[in-house]
Formats: sequence, C-alpha cells, structure tokens
Amino acid sequence: MDRAYDKISGMKTIIKSTVNSVLGTAGLAVVQQETVAKSNRSQIMDLELNRFLENIEESLRATCLPKLPKRKNRHSIMVDCINFSLQPFFLLNYLNEVLNVPGDLCEFGCSHGASTALFANEILETDKHIWIYDSFEGLSKPTTKDVLIDDIANLGSIDKYEGEMAHPKERVLGRLSKVGFPKPRIHTIPGFIEKTAKTGPFPDSVSFAYIDFDFYEPIKIGLELMKDRIHSKGVIVVDDYGYFSAGAKTAVDEFITEQSGKFILEQIPAWGGKCVAIRKR
Ligand SMILES: C[S@@+](CC[C@H](N)C(=O)[O-])C[C@H]1O[C@@H](n2cnc3c(N)ncnc32)[C@H](O)[C@@H]1O
Repeated sequence: MDRAYDKISGMKTIIKSTVNSVLGTAGLAVVQQETVAKSNRSQIMDLELNRFLENIEESLRATCLPKLPKRKNRHSIMVDCINFSLQPFFLLNYLNEVLNVPGDLCEFGCSHGASTALFANEILETDKHIWIYDSFEGLSKPTTKDVLIDDIANLGSIDKYEGEMAHPKERVLGRLSKVGFPKPRIHTIPGFIEKTAKTGPFPDSVSFAYIDFDFYEPIKIGLELMKDRIHSKGVIVVDDYGYFSAGAKTAVDEFITEQSGKFILEQIPAWGGKCVAIRKR
C-alpha cells in the first residue's frame, strides 16, 4: 500500500515539475489547492482588516482626531504592524500636525520597519529625510532602572530580552522601497546608540522624532540627542511609557524634570497612555 502511494506521489512530483518548467516561462506555477485556498484566505483577511482600519479611522476622525488627513496605502501598511491598537492613528496625527514644520524625521528603533514604512508613506511628497537609528542586533543590555513590568515575550526576566527584536537592515529598506520612498532621502545609522550618539550623523533640524528603544539608557540618550535638534514646533514621541520595562517612563520623567520646564509631556489617549508626546514649551 505504502509503496503504491510512494509511486503515485513520485509520479505527481515529476508531472508537477515538468508542467511547472513549461509554465514557469510564462510566470505561472502549479500549486496545491490547499495553498491557493490559504493564500486566498489571507488576502481576504487583509481586505477585511483594511476595511476595519478604515472604519476605525473614520470613527476617530469623527470624535478625537478631526484633523487626521486621509492617506493612500496607510491601512495596507498598518496591516503589517504586529501590534494592533489605536496608537498608530495617534502617531500619524502628530506626524501630520508637524508636516509643515521644517526639519527631518528621526526614528530611534525601527525593528522590522513597519512603523518606518508607515511614517515614510506620510512624508512621501515632502522633502523631508528619514534618519533611522538601530543596532539591527536587537535590544541593548538592560540597566538596573529596567525593571520588568510586562513580560511581553514570556522570557521570565528582563536580562533575557537583550538581543531580542533584531531584524536585518535590508528588511527595513525593503519596506521603504515598497512604499516608494526615494533612496537619497533615507539615512540608516546602524549600531548601538550608546556608540552612534558620539559619531552620528544627525540632521540639524528635526520636526518629528519617534523613540522606541524600550530601555532606560538608549531612550535617555535619544532624548538628549533630540533636545536641541527638535524644532520649536516639532514633537518627540516616546513609546512604552509605563509598559514592558519601567526604564522608559523613568527616562522620560527624568528628562522632563532635568529640563526644568522647557518641555511639556502629553500622554497619548490610546492604549492606556503608554505612549507620550514631548514638545517644547
Ligand atoms: C520595540 S523595537 C522598535 C519597534 C518599531 N518602532 C515598530 O513600531 O515596529 C526596538 C528596536 O530598537 C532597537 N534598539 C534597542 N536598543 C537599542 C540601542 N541601544 N541602540 C540601537 N538600537 C537599539 C532594536 O534593535 C529594535 O529594532
């Protein structure tokens, strides 16, 4: 029985590879029905998600984000984001608010580039450049200020998160190219910020900065780097305020106190205020 099955299965493979070698010249291929069904299913899911995100955006525009402009391709890029929350809509609202403010965009911590692509899509028609700072080797070593408050990947201790979330630079650049963002306006600065802070390069003026390094030390460095570069009407957004590691909130709170009244903090009313916007007073 097994031998007969093996024979049929072997013949199927030969037929499939012969047919595929002919069809391949026309860019076609034979695939199992199951594979087609699966890919149709995920296309339908993506369409549904797109529609869902469109509805959410409409509701937000009608309630708390009246000035958020519509934007082509926004929702299909959001579908690539791993975490679904209302937060990206609020981030894009801040970004659009400062679209006419002179200065580039800086992202500190890009992971696989979903947030990078989302931002890039919004600034496509401007002359703004995007500056990406990432180790591309994952999270740095946590300090004693990084107390674990949410064990997001179930690793059991904060120390085990060192090196997590590493993605190759090429993946991020691939996402930016899919969005159609011009290469000459992309600057990637690979390396741990503890080192690259000393070497740069950095833009002279920044209208929007997104700091998403997760831990105390690199977030504090990101804030220090931005304090004199952020335009007086620009905005710095810091993620994970009171989420995952206590270090993000500590870094932000220390910065605000040390700057003694020069900056003000707004908690973004999405996802329990775990993301903050910092502006010059
Ligand atoms: C939470 S992920 C960023 C997520 C991304 N912004 C998004 O929304 O999809 C954190 C990123 O920061 C980078 N990172 C963490 N600590 C760093 C450091 N000290 N220097 C440079 N990059 C760092 C990691 O490599 C990772 O890509």
